[in-house]
Amino acid sequence: MNPLLERLQPYPFEKLRQLFADLTPAPEKTAISLSIGEPRHPAPPFVVEAVAASLDRLASYPATAGLEALRTAIANWLTGRFALAGIDPAHQVLPVNGTREALFAFAQAVLDPGENALVMMPNPFYQIYEGAALLAGAQPHFINCTPQSGYLPDFGAVTEAQWQRCRLLYLCSPGNPTGAVLPLAQLQALIALAREDDFVIASDECYSEIYRDEADPPAGLLQACAAMGDSDYRNCVVFHSLSKRSNLPGLRSGFVAGDASILRDFLLYRTYHGSAMPLHHQLASIAAWEDEGHVRENRQRYRDKFAAVLGILEGHLEVDAPDAGFYLWPRTPVPDTDFARALYEGENVTVLPGRFLARHSGGVNPGESRVRMALVAEQAECEEAARRIVDRLARLGGYSQ
Ligand SMILES: Cc1ncc(COP(=O)(O)O)c(C=O)c1O
Repeated sequence: MNPLLERLQPYPFEKLRQLFADLTPAPEKTAISLSIGEPRHPAPPFVVEAVAASLDRLASYPATAGLEALRTAIANWLTGRFALAGIDPAHQVLPVNGTREALFAFAQAVLDPGENALVMMPNPFYQIYEGAALLAGAQPHFINCTPQSGYLPDFGAVTEAQWQRCRLLYLCSPGNPTGAVLPLAQLQALIALAREDDFVIASDECYSEIYRDEADPPAGLLQACAAMGDSDYRNCVVFHSLSKRSNLPGLRSGFVAGDASILRDFLLYRTYHGSAMPLHHQLASIAAWEDEGHVRENRQRYRDKFAAVLGILEGHLEVDAPDAGFYLWPRTPVPDTDFARALYEGENVTVLPGRFLARHSGGVNPGESRVRMALVAEQAECEEAARRIVDRLARLGGYSQ
């Protein structure tokens, strides 16, 4: 077996299962899960219909590069959403089966396994980045996101020598789990650094369409290039998905876009890996990328939920309203694992301890004393969870840390 497999960490949900192994949740209370980041709003009916209407396409093999019509729909969406001067659908866009597989595969294609390179990533982070780096024979380097750094990676803590060893930087903006958004100017500074030190930026923007202020959508990496008058997007690749934007996690549909020379090699890799998107999913994806109405409605549902839940938690739990995404990342009055156990046992509410989403780095685990709460269920259920949390906090003595 590949010895690198042994370096993979158990997934956070496996750690959660072990944490709760000896507990029985309060039987009189219905189970409410805030731990899994799976969208639970309904899928748009017109996309479901588009899948059904094209099932006859099951009779053909899809091409890895995807249909020209899909790449064009994506290029149009990107151009409008991120104020691009243009993006070439033939060379700068590639469909993927959701961002998870693409974020993983990307490291395998981009990194030289003989180089012992550093792969930088935020801390806490989406665990795929770490696994991708490890299986590509590279070394993950964690950049802490703390309240002091506005919950964004503290890039100032990275040394010049570390940047020089970096070959791949994962960004996650809006962040999972913090909801923090990287400003355009910071993206531009990172682009300049990537070109100077010769590393690739993989910008995971899969939460970019879930934000609080309709007039202020999160900036993206390609937008940062475009604002510098650059349309070759050198060293830059973005990852987008229909899972969160359109409540279609089961469609497994996303795309990568950016630097044409990187995408050409990534396409070669993917051709061997065998990761073409089924044609009926491609056709349904075109319908989804071409419609913004359902995306605006979806945002409003999250906005209402955040307002309601934060209103209940206010004064009881130390929590900031995130700029974007669908997570809360509150500070816990007791260690995060104890807090999660108390909520599960006493309230039948499941939250994810922050330490399971982060690693020790620079002497701290920035997830400790925080939990991730995904507001993915319907509003009434999220509110009920918040009320139970307030009850439990009263028993724990509030946030007196
Ligand atoms: C930060 C982040 N990136 C990527 C993904 C993967 O999403 P998908 O593969 O559905 O596009 C997730 C899913 O939870 C995520 O939280």
